[in-house]
Amino acid sequence: MTKLSIIYYSATGHGTTMAHRLAAAAEAAGAEVRVRHVAETRDPQTFAENPAWSANYEETKDQPAATGDDIMWADGVIFGSPTRFGSTAAPFQTFMDSLGGLWAQGKLADKAYAAFTSSQTAHGGQETTLIGLYTSLMHFGGVLVPPGYTDGLKFVDGNPYGVSHITGPENQNELNDATLAALDHMATRVVKIAGSLAQ
Ligand SMILES: Cc1cc2nc3c(=O)[nH]c(=O)nc-3n(C[C@H](O)[C@H](O)[C@H](O)COP(=O)(O)O)c2cc1C
Repeated sequence: MTKLSIIYYSATGHGTTMAHRLAAAAEAAGAEVRVRHVAETRDPQTFAENPAWSANYEETKDQPAATGDDIMWADGVIFGSPTRFGSTAAPFQTFMDSLGGLWAQGKLADKAYAAFTSSQTAHGGQETTLIGLYTSLMHFGGVLVPPGYTDGLKFVDGNPYGVSHITGPENQNELNDATLAALDHMATRVVKIAGSLAQ
């Protein structure tokens, strides 16, 4: 069975929803899947007045948090982070920074990688977030598996770099059909290519 890890940080829950959608699609494609959140680094009291952030924290805090072993175990990894100032969120980057020892041993190389993100606005930095994340994956010696326009549905969601969701000004937007289809497509494609690499 192809092994896929989905490793993501989410504050207000959009990333969590996207991660679980990816997991369901990957399992439907025949993969064994680990969903691992990157642990919150802030004191929960500092976001206690944000109900979505508190709810996502409570929902995920007792789930296993991501470690380097979740990458070593996998044939493919899909990473996710919200866009913050056009880049990945600090807790996600802290997780990436923890991987230096595995990187030095070459243990992050030769796996299939792709990524997803969300941002408040359409042009708020989704592409820069994904491309910045992919820069790190090139340092890993990873095999990048961006979705490109490999299916007609990619002309609907319109992001060849990965999958992205626009949360809206009050963080109120639900994942739309185009984004859901793009998540399913990316998960299926990464499982297929990760499986080929693992043979
Ligand atoms: C510190 C901070 C910086 C942000 N920077 C951006 C940004 O550059 N562009 C944008 O469109 N949204 C920005 N946002 C909004 C987040 O991208 C949005 O809330 C996020 O996608 C929600 O994902 P989550 O629910 O998984 O945490 C920012 C939010 C925070 C808290």
